Amino acid sequence: MHKDIESILLSEYQLEDIIEKLAEEINNDYYDKELVLIVILNGSMVFAADLMRKLNMPIYLEFMKASSYGTDTTSSKVVNVTMDIKTDIKDKHVIILEDIVDSGNTLSNLKAMLLKREPASLKLCTLLDKPDRRETDIEVDYVGTIIPDEFVVGYGLDYAQNYRHLPYVGILSRSVYEK
Ligand code: IMP
Ligand code: MG
Repeated sequence: MHKDIESILLSEYQLEDIIEKLAEEINNDYYDKELVLIVILNGSMVFAADLMRKLNMPIYLEFMKASSYGTDTTSSKVVNVTMDIKTDIKDKHVIILEDIVDSGNTLSNLKAMLLKREPASLKLCTLLDKPDRRETDIEVDYVGTIIPDEFVVGYGLDYAQNYRHLPYVGILSRSVYEK
C-alpha cells in the first residue's frame, strides 16, 4: 500500500465487481441502442476504460473536462468546462461517466448544459457516490457504490493531480492535506 494511504476502501477485486454490475445494468437498458459515453476527464478515465470494455452496444466515446476543484479537498460551486465534446449529441442516447459525485454541482451543471443540445436521452453514471455532502437534488441513474464522507484517491481519482495511478480506491491520510 502507498505510504500516503490510510486504508484501502475498494480493492481491485471489489472495483471489478462493481463495474461488472454497472455494465450489466447498462447492457440491459441499452441493448438495442447506440450509446454516446461522455467521459469526464481526468478522474473518470480509468473507470471508463474498464466499463466500456464490458458494454455490448455500439459505443461512441467523447471526452469533456470540467474543473471545480483546484488542489483543495472541498468543492467549489463554479464549474468551468475547459474542454468540450467534439460531436453533436442531438437525438443521441448519452451517458455521462463521472468518477465521484460529491456536492453534485459538477454533474448538475454538466447535465443542464448538455440537455440544451437535445439528446434523445441523457443519463448519469458514477463509480462512487458520497451522498453525505450533496448540495443539489441531482438524481444519478447508475451508481457503482456509495462511500462514506472521506477524501479518496486512486483508480483515476486524485489529490493535487497525484495518486490517480493507484489500482485501488484508498482513503488519503489527513496528514497529506492538513499540513
Ligand atoms: P462535486 O461537483 O462536488 O460533485 O465534485 C465532483 C468532483 O470533485 C469529482 O469529479 C472529483 O474530481 C472531485 N472529488 C470529490 N470528492 C473527491 C474525493 O474524495 N477524491 C477525489 N476527488 C474528489
Ligand atoms: Mg473529477
